[in-house]
Amino acid sequence: MKKYLALLLALVMVFALAACGESAPAPAAAPADTGSSAPADTGSSAPEVKTYKVGVAIYQFDDNFMTLYRNELQDYLKSLETDTVKYDITIVDGKNDMAEQNNQIDNFITQGMDAIILNLVQTSSADAAIAKIVDAGIPCILINREPLGDNGDESYAGILDNATVCYVGADARQSGTYQGEIIADLPNHGDINGDGKVSYIMIEGDPENVDAQYRTQFSIKALQDAGITVECLDDQIGNWALAKGQEICANDLAKFGDAVEVVFCNNDAMALGAAAAITAAGRTVGEDIYLVGVDALEECQQMVADGTMTGTVLNDHIGQSHTAVDVTVAALAGEAINNYYWVDYVKVTK
Ligand code: GAL
Repeated sequence: MKKYLALLLALVMVFALAACGESAPAPAAAPADTGSSAPADTGSSAPEVKTYKVGVAIYQFDDNFMTLYRNELQDYLKSLETDTVKYDITIVDGKNDMAEQNNQIDNFITQGMDAIILNLVQTSSADAAIAKIVDAGIPCILINREPLGDNGDESYAGILDNATVCYVGADARQSGTYQGEIIADLPNHGDINGDGKVSYIMIEGDPENVDAQYRTQFSIKALQDAGITVECLDDQIGNWALAKGQEICANDLAKFGDAVEVVFCNNDAMALGAAAAITAAGRTVGEDIYLVGVDALEECQQMVADGTMTGTVLNDHIGQSHTAVDVTVAALAGEAINNYYWVDYVKVTK
């Protein structure tokens, strides 16, 4: 009988312990601090999520190329999110107004951004804008508009010496050179009327932008380097815009007529405008006139394939935006970053 009672007691105890276990506090509760240095048991607790705030200031939303760029940048940064790392992205439109962009930078700093990706409205204002960001201890990733020193010196120590500032872009000299080579490589080297020189018009982007300066300069240099004589009929500012490209080209075709053999556009948006003016003037690309741009917008790639544009140069918005994001993520992780990251242009011809 005693034996039977002992067994019963043992069973009751086992049952009581099991019941206790079931009602024990959930392991999610933080373990009491035992003073030991052992890592806390995070067992089944939800992982801690870190959200980084990234501010992106674009010089102007109303720009074909920068629209592709900013959409890709946002999508790619979002694609890098994990269960524990999130990115809270704010993208603002500088409306091509440096005062507006300065306010936006101030707001980013007040909002406590963890990194700022900056597409400057005015590269001449780079110093002041970047100094504010650096003083606030925020990594600054410059994109698309490379700031140059007063002497045009690329290693602009004043800005880019800083360990948390870098420039991600493409070397605009390369794009200009490719434009010139596309013309130089034609069977008649761009000299349609056979008078021994290539007569061209140049439609430029924003004159403060080094992309515009270099494309203008290096496209012509490539022709000259190939031993070709050139004649500039007109050189006008189109500010990267389709409507301006169309207007300038239409005026020049009316003024110079058949003398215009090549239309150089610093970008494809302006080349699209120029293409419309060329058609309206009854001219035919590939027969009595040549047309080149830069960016390789989808429409322009199609036109090159169709022969309604002589060529363009791929401005790799995917490569550039991904590099900018990768560098941002590295800076957020506290990793060392370089001062320059270059992405190649690619020639696009039929
Ligand atoms: C250039 C591009 C232009 C325009 C400009 C804005 O690289 O070719 O189309 O987007 O950047 O800064």
